[in-house]
Amino acid sequence: LRIAVLFGGRSAEHEVSVMSATNVMRALDPARYDAVPVFVTRDGRWLKSRFEDGSLSQPERGTELVLVPGGRGRMLALRADGTVRDLDTIDLVFPVLHGPHGEDGSVQGAAEVARVPLVGCGILGSAAALDKDIAKRLLRAAGVPTARAVVIRPGDGPAFAEIERALGLPVFVKPARQGSSVGVSKVAGAADYDAALAEGFRHDGKLLAEEFVEGREVECSVLEAADGSLTVSRPGEIVPAASHGFYSYDAKYVDADGAALKVPADLPEETEAAIRATAAEAFRAVGCDGMARVDFFLKPDGQFLVNEVNTIPGFTDISMYPKAMAASGIGYAELIDRLVAHGLA
Ligand code: DAL
Ligand code: MG
Repeated sequence: LRIAVLFGGRSAEHEVSVMSATNVMRALDPARYDAVPVFVTRDGRWLKSRFEDGSLSQPERGTELVLVPGGRGRMLALRADGTVRDLDTIDLVFPVLHGPHGEDGSVQGAAEVARVPLVGCGILGSAAALDKDIAKRLLRAAGVPTARAVVIRPGDGPAFAEIERALGLPVFVKPARQGSSVGVSKVAGAADYDAALAEGFRHDGKLLAEEFVEGREVECSVLEAADGSLTVSRPGEIVPAASHGFYSYDAKYVDADGAALKVPADLPEETEAAIRATAAEAFRAVGCDGMARVDFFLKPDGQFLVNEVNTIPGFTDISMYPKAMAASGIGYAELIDRLVAHGLA
């Protein structure tokens, strides 16, 4: 079975994707899968990559790859010398891309246009989940609690006093469509607001100011089987180091001690059951299929709310999705097998 593993990509999470895809490549059993790594450059070209000695090459030039529309997996290689070659047909596309232009339905659409099966979530769920504004509306409509937020558009934002009145302080200002906490600022008062807007707008044309929720961060992995049934993992907990203030990009990927993962999270039985049931509801509410990681805030009084839904969750060494699945009895290799089976169904 030939699987095109797409990684890198145009988003600010380019490097995170490289880390995720390296682990996915290591987990794809070469006896069963012929994995073809496709490096997506920061400007969006698809280049032939190699997986050697456990790492992926990230060429800036070389053979460009084209998935032919309607080609049912036909892939062309455009060589640097101008010649074109037909590659062996791709059976399945596995996007290991995070954020815009990869996790947002765009690459899912490319696979759809090419008529190739796809691992993970389809166009609609990908697009809805990646936009935190849209996802919140879908969650709310389904009765799933989520943090209160106000949308901010360029030149059309509410005054800071209004945000403070609506949400209290501090608030998080975040791009509506980003991951890994890229562009997110914690705003404690009016003095921080302009810088937070400037930072957010560097990454997206739509921002959210979101209420600060005091509590623990717990996450569940959701995996859909080929027959449509859902497996929801036991929740895991993120314990960010106090020095970071919140689970920022640096706390995630830069500082090795920025956060600890506790899997499974130590929770009362009823709380765990309720969180797992809500993870499945959130998955359905946002229109996901295949896989997603559903992130929660758990308040000291036992109430919880959904922070967000990630349709291509991280597969890095510090990522929760595979760890929580493993703690629920589904190891890396089996996880990949199930994702592939779902994609082909
Ligand atoms: N956006 C990152 C990769 C995550 O959700 O794990
Ligand atoms: Mg995210």
